[in-house]
Amino acid sequence: MTNRSGNILLTGGLGYIGSHTAVVLAQAGHRVVLLDNLSNSRADVADRIGRIIGLRPVVEVADVLDTARVRHILSHYAIGVIHFAVQQRRLKQARATLRARSAERHRDLEEMLGLIESQR
Ligand SMILES: NC(=O)c1ccc[n+]([C@@H]2O[C@H](COP(=O)([O-])OP(=O)(O)OC[C@H]3O[C@@H](n4cnc5c(N)ncnc54)[C@H](O)[C@@H]3O)[C@@H](O)[C@H]2O)c1
Repeated sequence: MTNRSGNILLTGGLGYIGSHTAVVLAQAGHRVVLLDNLSNSRADVADRIGRIIGLRPVVEVADVLDTARVRHILSHYAIGVIHFAVQQRRLKQARATLRARSAERHRDLEEMLGLIESQR
């Protein structure tokens, strides 16, 4: 995928919302690149997306906190980014405390800011 025009990078692209968004975007004619650290997803989700849209999407297994890697991926593929990568496991635990939720949100915010920084 050398032509960056029309590419959209989905962070958390193998997750629930990311994978469904990937299908919709691909069916609308966009090329999608899925960045995910597999912390709450499996690589074979890309195979299932591929069966639906007729072409297996490019997957970059990476963490959004890895700024250098994200910068490289953006420069190589993406012209647009949709950020879905969040650490949800602790949020989904019934006994999560408000403090834990706050820390989780802080980390999510840090990840998003790192992503924005990578695009400079
Ligand atoms: N699921 C819902 O019903 C729903 C509804 C509305 C909004 N949302 C929002 O959509 C977003 C995604 O939610 P989801 O349900 O798809 O979650 P999800 O856990 O299914 O997907 C998140 C993906 O991000 C990946 N990820 C987590 N941390 C990462 C990191 N540091 N680097 C790279 N990848 C990372 C995980 O492996 C996972 O594949 C969240 O912001 C959520 O609040 C979800």
